[in-house]
Amino acid sequence: MDKIRVGLFGLGTVGTGVVKVLDDHKERIIHKLGCEVEIVKILVNDVSKTRDVIIKKNWLTDKPDDLIDDESIDVIVEVMGGVENTKELLERAIKNKKHIVTANKDLMAVSGQELLRLAKENHTDILYDASIAGGIPIVRTLVDGLASDHIEKVMGIVNGTTNFIMTKMTDEGLPFDQVLKEAQDLGFAEADPTSDVEGLDAARKMTLLANLAFKMEVNLADVEVKGITAITQDDINFAKSLGYTIKLIGIASMHDHKAEVMVEPTLLPKDHPLANVKNEFNAVYVYGDAVGETMFYGPGAGSLPTATAVVSDLMEVIRNIRLGISGNTYVDPQFKRQIKTPDE
Ligand code: NAP
Ligand code: HSE
Repeated sequence: MDKIRVGLFGLGTVGTGVVKVLDDHKERIIHKLGCEVEIVKILVNDVSKTRDVIIKKNWLTDKPDDLIDDESIDVIVEVMGGVENTKELLERAIKNKKHIVTANKDLMAVSGQELLRLAKENHTDILYDASIAGGIPIVRTLVDGLASDHIEKVMGIVNGTTNFIMTKMTDEGLPFDQVLKEAQDLGFAEADPTSDVEGLDAARKMTLLANLAFKMEVNLADVEVKGITAITQDDINFAKSLGYTIKLIGIASMHDHKAEVMVEPTLLPKDHPLANVKNEFNAVYVYGDAVGETMFYGPGAGSLPTATAVVSDLMEVIRNIRLGISGNTYVDPQFKRQIKTPDE
């Protein structure tokens, strides 16, 4: 039987989940793909650290070249995070004809178009569904599921950490710092949680969603961002007394052929569907001309939900390799960047 050989960058919250999903669902994956998926090397910072998953002898290395220059590796699964250094490593991997699966929205929001173009030139794929809304297959939905429609608006809760914090502050009256610590312990928060609580992580995801939904170049700098750090328990209680709940909401919409993208704490009536999305769960509402209203709900962070998205992308990459149709994940934006300014 054929084998596809994978190099994993990172064995933290998500990487550990990827190893588990590949192992727990081995038979299902072989049945679906008709080939085996084998991890051959894993890049980590500290090879001596105790791991939460059973790993094979000789899997771990702290040298990226052990994976990038290994000609037997077909796909790099990047779940280690980082931007500049990671971009450079992935560029080298792509030039070595490796396909990429990544959960790295920080990198994709800033350099995604550049990397996708490079991949196209090298006839390789880059898939990144895990980078937006964890286990919800929202990239696939926008690219394939709603391909026939014209999307006018995408809105939702796309950061699990802040939703976890707002839920616990609202429903249990717990203090911000305590709940943030819990989100970090559960592996939802970023290595530096500032990007979660200041809304930047959500802004990166909304940038990617706007690009995909509107087929337009939208840059991270175009997104108006406000996080949740200024929200006090008094604000939450006051909103509650009026029948509202506060959520960090991302909105990307089209007005007169111009895109408007923002992330901000928003008052929602208690019976609003997004008001009832709790803890680390995410929900993405998509409005299309023909389909009307759709909403996608699921775990937005965490080891196994995110790993499921990573492995599903890996399976798509493998199907493309076997069909000989790799290199088509970069789609030229049909529309040039046109952003609505605040005074318009
Ligand atoms: P994490 O738990 O901090 O794990 C990072 C892993 O990468 C660790 O194994 C670390 O090695 C390794 N690593 C980091 N920098 C490295 C470097 N320069 N060289 C070699 N190895 C390096 O992070 P995570 O939560 O799994 O997140 C990984 C990525 O997925 C990030 O891009 C994140 O934004 C994204 N993501 C996370 C979630 C989530 O719920 N956590 C959900 C969606 C997307 P050591 O183990 O030796 O320290
Ligand atoms: N820190 C991110 C979140 C991880 O809380 O949503 C998932 O992208």
